[in-house]
Amino acid sequence: MDIATTPTNPEGNPELADAARTPHQPPVILREYYRPFGWLLPEVKLDFDLGITRTRVRAELTVQRNARADRADVIRLNGDGLKPVSVTVDGAATDWSMDGADLMVPLHGDSHLIVVETEIDPAANTQLMGLYASNGMLCTQCEAEGFRRITFFADRPDVLSTYTVRMAGEKAAFPILLCNGNRVAEGDNADGTHWAEWHDPWPKPSYLFALVAGDLVANSKPFTTVSGREVECNVWVRAEDLARTDHAVESLHRSMKWDEDVFGREYDLDLYNIVAVSDFNMGAMENKGLNVFNTKYVLADPDTATDGDFDAVEGVIAHEYFHNWSGNRVTCRDWFQLSLKEGFTVLRDQLFSQDMRGEAVKRIEDVRILRAAQFPEDAGPLAHPIRPDSYREISNFYTATVYNKGAEVIRMMRSMVGVERFRAGTDLYFDRHDGEAATCEDFVRAIEDGAGIDLAQFRRWYAQAGTPRVTVREAVAGDSLVLTLKQHVPATPGQPDKQPMPIPLRVAVHSRLGALGAEQLIVLAQAEQSFTLPLAGPDPVVSINRGFTAPVVIDRALVRDDLVFLAAQDDDPSARSEALQELAVSHLVGTASGELSAGERGAGEAAIIGAFAASLADGALDDAMRGELMLLPSETYLFEVMATGERKADPGAIHTAREGLKAAIGTALADALQALHTRAAAVALDDPAGRGARKIKTIALSLIAAANPARAATLAAQQYDAADNMTDRQGALMVLTGLDCREREERLASFYQRYKGNDLVIDKWFTLQALSLHPDVIAHVRKLAEHPDFTMKNPNRVRSLHMAFAGNPKGFHAADGEGYRMVADVILALDPINPQTAARFVPSLGRWRRIEPGRAALMKAELERIMAAGNLSRDTFEQVSRSLD
Ligand code: PHE
Ligand code: ZN
Repeated sequence: MDIATTPTNPEGNPELADAARTPHQPPVILREYYRPFGWLLPEVKLDFDLGITRTRVRAELTVQRNARADRADVIRLNGDGLKPVSVTVDGAATDWSMDGADLMVPLHGDSHLIVVETEIDPAANTQLMGLYASNGMLCTQCEAEGFRRITFFADRPDVLSTYTVRMAGEKAAFPILLCNGNRVAEGDNADGTHWAEWHDPWPKPSYLFALVAGDLVANSKPFTTVSGREVECNVWVRAEDLARTDHAVESLHRSMKWDEDVFGREYDLDLYNIVAVSDFNMGAMENKGLNVFNTKYVLADPDTATDGDFDAVEGVIAHEYFHNWSGNRVTCRDWFQLSLKEGFTVLRDQLFSQDMRGEAVKRIEDVRILRAAQFPEDAGPLAHPIRPDSYREISNFYTATVYNKGAEVIRMMRSMVGVERFRAGTDLYFDRHDGEAATCEDFVRAIEDGAGIDLAQFRRWYAQAGTPRVTVREAVAGDSLVLTLKQHVPATPGQPDKQPMPIPLRVAVHSRLGALGAEQLIVLAQAEQSFTLPLAGPDPVVSINRGFTAPVVIDRALVRDDLVFLAAQDDDPSARSEALQELAVSHLVGTASGELSAGERGAGEAAIIGAFAASLADGALDDAMRGELMLLPSETYLFEVMATGERKADPGAIHTAREGLKAAIGTALADALQALHTRAAAVALDDPAGRGARKIKTIALSLIAAANPARAATLAAQQYDAADNMTDRQGALMVLTGLDCREREERLASFYQRYKGNDLVIDKWFTLQALSLHPDVIAHVRKLAEHPDFTMKNPNRVRSLHMAFAGNPKGFHAADGEGYRMVADVILALDPINPQTAARFVPSLGRWRRIEPGRAALMKAELERIMAAGNLSRDTFEQVSRSLD
């Protein structure tokens, strides 16, 4: 079905007001239908009488006619599952009505006071949108459309209000009462309840509202801003978690300082609260002055968190903090503009982490994520531009495209104008739009004006979906090299024809004899274009898209020796890693598709082993970078490359080829890998080189495991037993869970015993087993779903078992379709409990068109089974129907 033919107007269509679970098709909302809201709501007063199973909300809304909008004599206040207890206008009864789930209140003057009372049951809220209970505490999640589950409201991001909130509840159950902004008053009542009143001076949209009530303690440390203001920074957790909060507090301070230094952004309240909750649909939420975080991105100590977990905490804390300017001070006009805040904020957190941890490795990690998560999305049925044109359920658009490709698009602008001019552009953006709800177009125009660049053609990056392919031809002419580049943006759903886009590429022309060429930036703007570059010497080797300046696929005739040269010699670290990836991709896809002769396979394998040997021996590399060079491309990415043109991906063949290559490397380099493991094992936990050492230790183990399982089992058990940190422990257990050996059961049991009751670590225990290479992984997952610690009600637990399994290429793609069936069963069981999380499983099945016909038919049949079940949430309906279109 063509979604563009069934437009609906968000202001006028009663269907929109239906509850999330509709028997008929949920309507499509179009970007071009945006209209300003008919009323302004400058002031909101909320009064909460809190209880886990019964909370009463009284909302006082000051409303004024919006002179910039069409006249409306009725105000539509969105609701979702709410019943009004009472509604008055200017203190008098009014002739209100319901339109679906929305409250319609007639208003005839220019300004009024509407008072609405509602009653909700937080304990029954399993969707975790709106006000809900988690571990005895109460908290909220309002982005994107959760506020309408708390009270009736103009629940859209372009309606900005000043909030004053009073909350009361039992002091024993909720000793801590938090809201946005500053606490202005508090007190005790005689009946064992207490109350607090909060005021947020910054006008904000409803999606940034937050409230928390619970038994919490804070790790508190003040931050002094650049202008000398002291900010109280608190990280609130349950008492037993307090010892694991230092890293979060330090990360917050580093973020605050970095945003002052690099983007000139100072914090604007005297208080910054972060609260960790264990039931949360996403990573974290940037509510003004009161971030709510998934515990996973707050709690960390070396005994329970890996180095990767530490990095993730730092990155997410930074991300939410940076939203205070890119998201809160300047927010989005409508949800189609989501990338305005998310793409920009992801770029800001990536640049921050590059500065904290080193640019090269962080950039390689970010590119790996883009390839594994965003490229497949851009090539499948759910492909959409970073600024989508339509949706049925906005929760489905918190995607790798909006976030990660959105960041890449802004990074390209930065690469084209340079760091200083980019800063002039962002300064102008923040100045111009402070206090406003802006659009992506506003952002682009501010960069144009502030940085002095014409982005007319560049705007296509916001409108066109699909990963561009750039084909490269090279010819030597005298002492120059002529590079002829062609670009092609593939067709995506609803977008059959694409226009060329400006593609900035950093390039250098090296000489195979060793001379390295100077780097320059070229911009491929036409469908086909030639560039003349100087030669550094004979036998030119082109290093292209250095630093991954553009999110594109480079298509070029492979010269194996050139790639080996680049992998070992290029002066750009990400180009070295790219060359190795390219070497491995062509070998693995060629092997899996049977397109390589035995001779070519042998030569490819030898070249890769040679490149690995060179990385192992290269004394100039640090171990963190060495580890990047030793990671083979993911199976998901290999599927994407294999599925080009008419050729389909064969998951079984990819898996066999990749494991075969690991075994060949592990066999050929057995001694060197063993030596590497021994050297790394001797580096102490707090040694500055310890991080890199821990990374390569486990990479070495997994290569050894492919070649010599018995040897690996012994080594991994040793690593596990000797571990004084979670990185080593989890790495060893990861290798062991893939092996069929005695050590596996023993260490899994001891891990469980040791960490019983620590949810985040028990999540790891589930994940390791769900991701494992073990032949019985499906049976293991089935059994784990019956484990007393498993519950469908906690999103982290669901992700730790089922999402991990859906990302296990071997188990998920089992040839008999058992993996697909299990995931479809999860979607059906989870949809009535938590539709947002259920819908996130659909893309794994949605890739059926790119998979070989046998598996494709099984995957499609599961999608059809879900569709036939009927009564789906809007979230799941949208994803499944798009996947079957
Ligand atoms: N806005 C949050 C972020 O990116 C993500 C989020 C979206 C959280 C929707 C909850 C619900 O930081
Ligand atoms: Zn964000």
